[in-house]
Parts: sequence; structure tokens; C-alpha cells
Amino acid sequence: MELTATATEGVTAAAASAAPPFLRDLWYFAMPARDLKRGRLLHKTLLGEPIVFGRTEGGEVFALRDLCPHRGVPLSAGRIVAGTVECPYHGWRFGPDGGCKLIPSLAEGQTIDQSRIGVRRYPTVEANGLVWIFMAADPSLAEAPEPPPVLALAPQQMPRLVERQLFPCPMDHAVVGLMDPAHGPFVHNIWWWRTPDSIHEKAKNYGPSRRGFTMLPHAPSKNAGLYKLIGGRPITEIVFELPGLRYEIITAGRKKVFGFTACTPLTADTTEVTQIFFWNIGWAGLLRPLLQPIARIFLGQDRRMVTLQREGLKHDPRLMLIRDADMPAMWYFRLKKEWAAARAEDRPFVNPVKETTLRWRS
Ligand code: FES
Ligand SMILES: [Fe+2]
Repeated sequence: MELTATATEGVTAAAASAAPPFLRDLWYFAMPARDLKRGRLLHKTLLGEPIVFGRTEGGEVFALRDLCPHRGVPLSAGRIVAGTVECPYHGWRFGPDGGCKLIPSLAEGQTIDQSRIGVRRYPTVEANGLVWIFMAADPSLAEAPEPPPVLALAPQQMPRLVERQLFPCPMDHAVVGLMDPAHGPFVHNIWWWRTPDSIHEKAKNYGPSRRGFTMLPHAPSKNAGLYKLIGGRPITEIVFELPGLRYEIITAGRKKVFGFTACTPLTADTTEVTQIFFWNIGWAGLLRPLLQPIARIFLGQDRRMVTLQREGLKHDPRLMLIRDADMPAMWYFRLKKEWAAARAEDRPFVNPVKETTLRWRS
């Protein structure tokens, strides 16, 4: 894929092709914690790597490379025994730290230095009902250098609504689609939400955030139907950060809705998009049977677009990014490029986003 900014805007080209397919040394959202049952294993390919996630009988979440170092059988086909992962082929056992704990075939007197046998361990953290995984560039890195993103949530807050869909597209298109402000009236044109006739001009202030940018707190659009349900005078703040995380924080007095969207690349051309909502409004739970299908419809509409887009992309076209509506996409590519460069040059990341106002019609 090649995405360029239009020459007339004086922004030069091809940010996308310069960056590697997957960014490393970042925390990725792996899955809702409820997917991992005690004493069970679960395979998941992330960034093209086979990974086995597990939860010990004691409740501890871990992630290992899903490939037995003996003869390559996926460990996820095995089972958890006595706090270890047992390979289904010859029963070698590996601890949650990746170290080999047992080789059943060894006879009396046969010794082998087990400490030299192990599988890659990925740092994981479980918080607010979400499982995070640190995808280091260096496979021997056992500990992440920093904790995963801290969400604006009380520690005990758990997901109220989860909608997850597989997008048949590279990470970049999923992310760009997610932050694209101009497609709403065309893609999400449900009568009570938006239609192409409801287009009007918008101006929003943006500023840099940790590894991304923030649409600074503002009152949401009048026609944003769901906001009405919250009542009061809601204020919205939308934060994007690498690798592909979006937080939407809506507050009205003490009522708070926290929307979290994660794009997680499974392979070079499949991306899992997960939308999770947290809220502290008691009665909102009653609306879940209504909200779940709405979330499914919305995400499905975005998914349909990347599915259509795939047809065009087969012909490897040159694509455009125009101002101001595609500015968030341009920032994303700049952020990616800077992250990759900073890692490669072993220097601190310098956020390329500057405070600005974007104007567009949608
Ligand atoms: S392949 Fe895993 S124990 Fe032999
Ligand atoms: Fe969308």
C-alpha cells in the first residue's frame, strides 16, 4: 500500500511504505480477560507470531511462543498440568516463564541441562478485564520496560459490552478507517444517527498526547443520538495512541462512559478490531440488549468498507490523504515512522503532532 498526501498541500509523500509492517516494543491489546478460562490454553496469532495464552489454575495469565522447542508442535494443543504447559507430543512441560520443567523420557542417570531449554515468554498484564501483551523487538526480553496503557477507569471496572470483528485488511487501513472523521454520514448512515444530508462543518482542537494525539474535550455533536441517553451536558475527549488504540471518554457530571477500541494485527492482512465499553451508569446495563446489536452494526459497517477496499487495493493503486479530514491518518503515519526510527536509533520518541484545529465537513 502506498498512501500519499496531495502535492498541493505541500506535504510530501509515502509515510506508509517507509514504516515496518508491525511496530515493536509496544503493548498490544490481546483479548478480553474473560476469554481465558482457568487451567486452559488458547492459541492466537499476533503480529504474525504463533502465541499460546494460558491461565494457570491459580488465575495467572501468561503467553508463550506456541511452538514446542523439541519438535515444533503447538503447545496450545497440549494442556495445563500442575501450573505448567504440557506438550501433547512427548509431554515436555514448560512453566509460565517459558522454562522447561520436565522431560518425561529421561531415564535414570540421563541428564540434560533443562535450564537451556525454553520457549519465548511474552510479558502480559491483566487489568480492567483486558489482557495486554508486550511485543518486544528482542525475543529474549523477559520484562516489559513499562506498564501497559493506564485507562481512565477505576481498578475494579470491568467491560460492560464487547464487540469484536475480524477485518480482512492490514493494520493501517483498520486504524485509518477508525479515526477517519469524514466517512460517518456515508458509512454509518442509519436514519437516527447520520445521513449524507446532515453534513455540516466541524472544527475540533487537537493536541499531542503520549504516543498519539487527542481531540481535546468538547461537547459532542447535537445529533449524536447515543449521547442523549447519558443526559446532562456530556463532554467528550478522544485519544489515539500507538499501536492502534483509541479511547473515547464521555463524562456528564459523575456519569462516565469509557469506550475503548483496539486494532490488533493478527497477520499482515488481518486485523482484529475490538470495541469495549465501560460505564458507571447503573440503568445503562438494561440497555445492553439494544446496545450490543448497535455496536455490531457500526463495526460491521466499517468492516464492510475495508472489505470493499480490498478489491481496489489488489491493483496496488496510489492513494491520497487530503486536508483536513485525513490529518489524523497523516499523524498516524508520522507517529509510526517516528516510533520505528526512535527504536532503530535507540533514542527517545519525539511526538511529531503539534497542537492545531482541524476543520472538515461531516
Ligand atoms: S514436540 Fe513437544 S515434547 Fe516433543
Ligand atoms: Fe466508522
